[in-house]
Amino acid sequence: MPWVLGIESSCDETAAAVVSHEGMVLADVVHSQVELHAPYGGVVPELASRDHLRACGPVVREALHRSGLALADLDAIAVTHRPGLIGALLVGVQIAKGLSFASRRPLVGVDHLVGHLLAPFVRRASPDGALSPVPSFPYVALLASGGHTALYRVDGPHASAIDELGGTRDDAAGEAFDKVAKLLGLGYPGGPIIDRLAREGDATRTPLKAPMAQRASLEFSFSGLKTQVAELVAKQPPRTHEAVADLCAAFQATATKVLVDKLVAAARLEGVRDVVITGGVAANSELRRRAEAASEKAGLRLTVPPLASCTDNAAMIAFAGACRFVRGERDGHALEASSQTLLPRRTHKGPKSAR
Ligand code: KG4
Ligand code: ZN
Repeated sequence: MPWVLGIESSCDETAAAVVSHEGMVLADVVHSQVELHAPYGGVVPELASRDHLRACGPVVREALHRSGLALADLDAIAVTHRPGLIGALLVGVQIAKGLSFASRRPLVGVDHLVGHLLAPFVRRASPDGALSPVPSFPYVALLASGGHTALYRVDGPHASAIDELGGTRDDAAGEAFDKVAKLLGLGYPGGPIIDRLAREGDATRTPLKAPMAQRASLEFSFSGLKTQVAELVAKQPPRTHEAVADLCAAFQATATKVLVDKLVAAARLEGVRDVVITGGVAANSELRRRAEAASEKAGLRLTVPPLASCTDNAAMIAFAGACRFVRGERDGHALEASSQTLLPRRTHKGPKSAR
C-alpha cells in the first residue's frame, strides 16, 4: 500500500497530509490564512506567499509527526504545482523538491483541480465511524470553489480521463458569494455568512435572474448576478437585517439553482448515473439540499464528500499523487509551477479578444 505525503499551497491554505493509494488518511493538517486576508475582502497574493513560507515547514512536520511515519517510510511526495497563485505554488513546490531530494523519494506534481475532482475517494470516518461513500466511474462532478467553477466528466482517477464539460465565463461561484457579501458589508469569506443569513430570508421578495440559465449550455456566468445585486443595493440600500437576509436568500437561491440544474443536465447529456459536488461552495446548505432533491428526482446517485475534503486540503493532493505514482508517473526536480490547469478548457474566461 503506497503511502504518499501531499503538500498544498496553491491559494490561501497551507496543507500537508499522509494518505494511502486506497484513500486512507494517516494525517491531514490545514493551516488557513483566512484571518490574514479578511481585512482586504479577498486573497492578497503577496501576503499569501509570505505566510506559506512561514507555515509550510511546520505544517509538513506536523503531518509527518501525526502520521507516525518518517520520510524514509514514504513511497512518494506529491505537491500541487498548478493552477493557482504562482508565488504561493512555488513555496510548496520548492519544499517538496527539497524533501524529495533529501529522502530520495520520487516527486509527483498534482493539478489542484484533479485533486478536488478525486476528493470523494479520500476516506474519512463520520462521527458514527462509517466511512464516507465513494462514487463510481464515470461520474459528472460540479467543482465550485472560490477560484474555479466548472462541470467535468470523470472516467478514471487521472487527468487524462477527465474532461471539462463547461465552466464559468467570468467569476467563480465562491467568488460571487464573496463579492456579494462584500457589497452588503458582511465580511469575508462571504459564502458561509450568506448561507447563514439566507436561512432567515425570503428569496421570493427580490427577483434575480441567473445569466446563462438556459439548459442547452453547460457554461455559467456569475458576474452579472453580482451586478444585479450591486444595482439593487445602489438603488435601495437594505437598511434592516430582514432586507439583507432577503437579498442573501434571493442571491443564494438563484446561484444554487443554476448550479444544480446544469449538474443534472450534464449527467443526462453524458448518460451517467453518478454525480458529485465538490469545492468550498459544496459546503452550502441550499446547494446540498437542491442537489439531493434534484438527484433523487432524476434517479442519480449523489456523492458530496465531507467538508474537510471539499475545501482546500492536502489529503486530496496526496491521493491524486498516489494515483499517478501507481501508474508509474514521476516528475523530476525540474517540475515547474504554473498558474494554469493541465485539464483542457472548453470554456475560457473573459472576452474572446483577450484570449
Ligand atoms: O475550495 P475553497 O476552500 O478554496 C478555493 O479553492 O477557492 O473554497 C472557498 C470558497 C470561498 O469563496 C467561500 O466563500 C466559499 O468557498 N464557501 C461557501 C460556503 N463555504 C465556503 N460558499 C457558499 N456557501 C458556503 N457555506
Ligand atoms: Zn481549491
